[in-house]
Amino acid sequence: MLTGIQPSGDLHLGNYLGMVRQVLSFQETDDVYLMIADLHAQTVPYNPLEFKNRILDLGKSLLALGVDPKKLVFFRQSEIPEHLYLYWILGTLTPLGELTRMHQYKEKKERYEHVGIGAGILMYPVLMAADILLYQSDVVPVGEDQVQHVEITRELARKYNGAFGEAFKIPQELLIKETARVMSLDNPEKKMSKSLPEGNLPLFEQEQEIVQKIKSAVTDSGSEVIFNEREKQGIANLMVIYKELTGKTITDIEQEFKGVGYGVFKQAVVESFLSFFKDSRKKKENISDHQVLKVFEEGKEKAQSVARETLYIVLQQTGLK
Ligand code: TYM
Repeated sequence: MLTGIQPSGDLHLGNYLGMVRQVLSFQETDDVYLMIADLHAQTVPYNPLEFKNRILDLGKSLLALGVDPKKLVFFRQSEIPEHLYLYWILGTLTPLGELTRMHQYKEKKERYEHVGIGAGILMYPVLMAADILLYQSDVVPVGEDQVQHVEITRELARKYNGAFGEAFKIPQELLIKETARVMSLDNPEKKMSKSLPEGNLPLFEQEQEIVQKIKSAVTDSGSEVIFNEREKQGIANLMVIYKELTGKTITDIEQEFKGVGYGVFKQAVVESFLSFFKDSRKKKENISDHQVLKVFEEGKEKAQSVARETLYIVLQQTGLK
């Protein structure tokens, strides 16, 4: 399996509950490729100096959370040029209309219209298809926002296999149902996102900020801690977060906070968050740039040998070799 994450903002709780913890569990038993999607992150405006640090920082965060380079292959997308080669070939097979209909394209187009939109935003899902197909992934652990991209990957794989011969496995997305879409703290109708920092919960943020963000999470005008996703979206979101961080059931949580109001519940969410990530937050401080670069170097070797094999078949089948 392959999955990826962009170094476009701080790693947050949505990333963790939607994707990272799937990787932590699968690395024990499966053949996992985990990639920092640095090329994808260049589809929106970025500062090159900051960008370099963001990549290292994301590497450190993932290692601190338990990503183990001895158990999986951890690498940077930009270090494997095979991704770009396959991206081009798949791009020639991709219907333009389909790219313009993608949810994420529409949303980003609107958000970045004022600074100008590059074609990279439109082609984004094609690069993702190349990432996934190069490693012959059977499954792709992701959050809900990436499902449409895995769907188009499947379509492209079928189209290619039909036109040129069987080169690719047909991948399937893998979601954790309850946490495939963790919602934003400041607007529970929107998903928690790296690009909307006001409502997200970065795992390695200063403790004060975390406390402040959880305590000011938008809720409803009531006071009962009851699970109702329609009428009490904010509280329902916090309940799911609390459930995942403590292992308690929703019924237990309703019982535990009966009659005490949202303030006490939010304090418990703060404590569960800080306790769950305590060790990782400490561990990250001791990971050096050098350590991360070494991990990427080793990951590159392993990833590239697989990517090369797939690309070689494609080059032969398409008449380039
Ligand atoms: P990215 O960096 O936006 O997010 C990384 C992963 O976190 C999941 N996620 C969430 N899950 C639950 N609730 C949320 N609020 C939430 N926000 C984010 C995402 O679904 C994702 O799984 N395009 C990808 C990176 C990528 C990739 C790939 C993924 C590049 N190539 C190939 C899989 C396979 C992205 O931008 O993820």
